[in-house]
Amino acid sequence: MQAVRIHRFGGPEVMAIDEIDQPTPAANEVVIKVFAASVNPVDAKMREGKYPVVTEKDLPYVLGRDVSGEIAAVGSGVASFLIGDKVFAFLSPEHGGYEEFVVASAEEVALQPQAPDAIGSAAVPLAGITAWQGLFDHGGLLAGQRVLIHGGAGGVGHFAIQFAKAKGAWVATTVSSSDKDFVTDLGADQVIDYKAEKFEDVVEPVDLVFDLIGGETQERSFSVVKPKGALISTLQEPDKAKAKKQGIRAARYTAQPNGAQLQEIAQLIYQGEVQVVVASTFGLGQAAEAQSVLQEKHIRGKVVLQVVSEQPKPLIDEEARRLRAYLIWEAEGRPEGQDLTHWYRAGDTDAAAERGDYRQYFPGIAPAGSLVIKFYHSGDQIRGYVRKIADTDADDTIFPGEEMEPAAAFKLAASHRADSNEPIFVELVEGVEWNPKWGRLA
Ligand SMILES: NC(=O)c1ccc[n+]([C@@H]2O[C@H](COP(=O)([O-])OP(=O)(O)OC[C@H]3O[C@@H](n4cnc5c(N)ncnc54)[C@H](OP(=O)(O)O)[C@@H]3O)[C@@H](O)[C@H]2O)c1
Repeated sequence: MQAVRIHRFGGPEVMAIDEIDQPTPAANEVVIKVFAASVNPVDAKMREGKYPVVTEKDLPYVLGRDVSGEIAAVGSGVASFLIGDKVFAFLSPEHGGYEEFVVASAEEVALQPQAPDAIGSAAVPLAGITAWQGLFDHGGLLAGQRVLIHGGAGGVGHFAIQFAKAKGAWVATTVSSSDKDFVTDLGADQVIDYKAEKFEDVVEPVDLVFDLIGGETQERSFSVVKPKGALISTLQEPDKAKAKKQGIRAARYTAQPNGAQLQEIAQLIYQGEVQVVVASTFGLGQAAEAQSVLQEKHIRGKVVLQVVSEQPKPLIDEEARRLRAYLIWEAEGRPEGQDLTHWYRAGDTDAAAERGDYRQYFPGIAPAGSLVIKFYHSGDQIRGYVRKIADTDADDTIFPGEEMEPAAAFKLAASHRADSNEPIFVELVEGVEWNPKWGRLA
C-alpha cells in the first residue's frame, strides 16, 4: 500500500510516497481503509522536526493525524466496530494518516456522522477535538458564558465557534476582514477584524479566551478575561505569574485522541448544529502542496487529502436507511443463558442517531406492526424469512415458507415497510452470527 513518509526532517521535498506493508491490528486495535486524511499545521511541524514527540528514532515516519474511512479489520477485544463501518479518527502520533490503511486504537475511533461525505468527515477529528477539549475540558465553558476565540476562521476556530454556540455560549472571534461573513454565518455574535481593530478595545470582558494564535495576541488577551476566567492556548504556555496576579487560570494544552468526544461531535454534525468547512482537497500524491497551501495561503476551514479516488457510497441513502439496525451481541457479549432466540431492535435510523447508546443490543419483544427477519441454519446454509407481527402473542408470517438468502430477506423486509415507520427487527437463532454483508447494521 502507499504511504506518505519522511526519511529525514526538512521542507516539503522530504515527503516521499513509499510502498509499505498493509498493517494488521493488535488487540483492541482496528485497521481503517482510509478514504481521506486531513492536513493540520502540526503535520508541517512534524515534517520539519519541530514537534518533540517525533524524533530521529521514529524515522521513516508516516505523516497525518486524522482520517475518515471504513473498518477493514478488527483486533481481538474490539466490541464496538464491525468490518465495513464508516468511521473517523484522531490518531495518536505513532500512527500516520497519509496512507491507504492505518491502524488505530479502537478508543480513538468513532462512527462517522451520517453527513458529510468522507472528505468532510476527515476534516473533523483533530481540529474538532482540539476545539472541544480547549473550550470545555480546559476552558470549562458553560452555557450563558462569553468566549473570545482568536483565529475563528481556521480549522480549529470554525469548529470552536459552532461548538460554543451549540452549548449556549456567547461568542466573539478575531478573523481577517474577508472572513467576517463566514464566521457570522457560523454563529459568531461579535466579529473583529484583527488587522483593523484591537480586540481589547471592542470586546467586553469574557469568561474564556481561546487562543489559536499565540504571541502578542495572547499577551494582549489577559486584559479581556474576567476575574476567575480562563485563557487557554493551543500554542504557547501563557504567563502563569501574570495569570495568578490577575486571578485567572491560564494554560496551554495538547489535544488528545478521544473517540467518545468525537462521537458527540458527530452527533452535533448529524443534527445540523455544526457545519464542516473544507477549504480545498488534494490527492495523496499532492501532500506536499497541500501542506504548503495550509502554511502559506489564507485558509477558511480545512485542507483534506483524498486518499482513494472513488468516493465511498453515501452512508445513508434511503435503502441503507431502511436496512440499518442496532448492533447485536458484539457490544456486550452474548447474554448468559440465551439459548434460542433473541430480538434486536433494528432499522430506525433517526431513533438511532438520537441515542448515544444505540450500538448496544436491545432485547425485547417486537411490537405489533413490526417486521421481523429471522436468520437460522438450513442445512449448512444460513437462510432468512420475513414476517410481520400482527399481535405480540401470534407471529403472522407474511411470506410463509419463503426462505431466502439473508441479504434478500433484508431487502424484502425493507420494501414492505417503505411507508411505515415501524422498525425492522432481527432475530438470530442460536449459532447464527451476524454477517455485515447481509445488511447494514448501525
Ligand atoms: N495544542 C494542540 O493540540 C493543537 C491542536 C490543533 C492545532 N494547534 C495549533 O493551533 C493553531 C490553529 O490551528 P488551525 O488548524 O486552526 O490553523 P489554521 O487552519 O491554519 O487557521 C489559522 C487561522 O488563524 C488566522 N489568523 C492568523 N493570524 C491571526 C491573528 N493575529 N488573529 C486572528 N486570526 C489570525 C488565519 O487567518 P488569516 O489567514 O486570515 O490570517 C487562519 O484562519 C495552529 O498554530 C496549530 O498548530 C494546536
